[in-house]
Amino acid sequence: MLDKKIIDLINHQVNKELYSAYLYLSMANYYAEKNLNGFAHWFNLQAKEEYEHAEKFMDYLHDNGSEVVLDNIPAPKNEYDDPVEPLRVTVKHEEYVTSLINEIVKVAHELVDYRTINFLSWFINEQAEEEKTANDLLARYEIFVNDKRNLYLFDQELNTRK
Ligand code: FEO
Repeated sequence: MLDKKIIDLINHQVNKELYSAYLYLSMANYYAEKNLNGFAHWFNLQAKEEYEHAEKFMDYLHDNGSEVVLDNIPAPKNEYDDPVEPLRVTVKHEEYVTSLINEIVKVAHELVDYRTINFLSWFINEQAEEEKTANDLLARYEIFVNDKRNLYLFDQELNTRK
């Protein structure tokens, strides 16, 4: 049986992962409306990944006899100043998500809840990857996208994400 503190934190994390999906969907829509279909494709896939993260947390609760309690998902930002802004927001958002995961790990340690610590190790690795990917995207945008042709090429590359 999981401690109530862990159940609450994981339910909170389900909400944050669903919000992440919503946020990335808003970015996908922004890029689609700017005809940057590669960026839109990339963020659509990212939104799906976030939904899968929420599913993993919900499965963990169910597998341990606990209830999922869904909460309101706040509206994401829908307007961006330019095509680089969503990439900056993504970096900050992934750092924030990492801090949330770390907090659950911290509480799991306090409760000597090895099962949850073990479960969260996948997310610790995943966050390292998500932060790296977000930073790489932003860095490459800032280094290479100095003209429309480079933006076009970058967009084409992002369209190949599987
Ligand atoms: Fe589920 Fe991108 O963190």
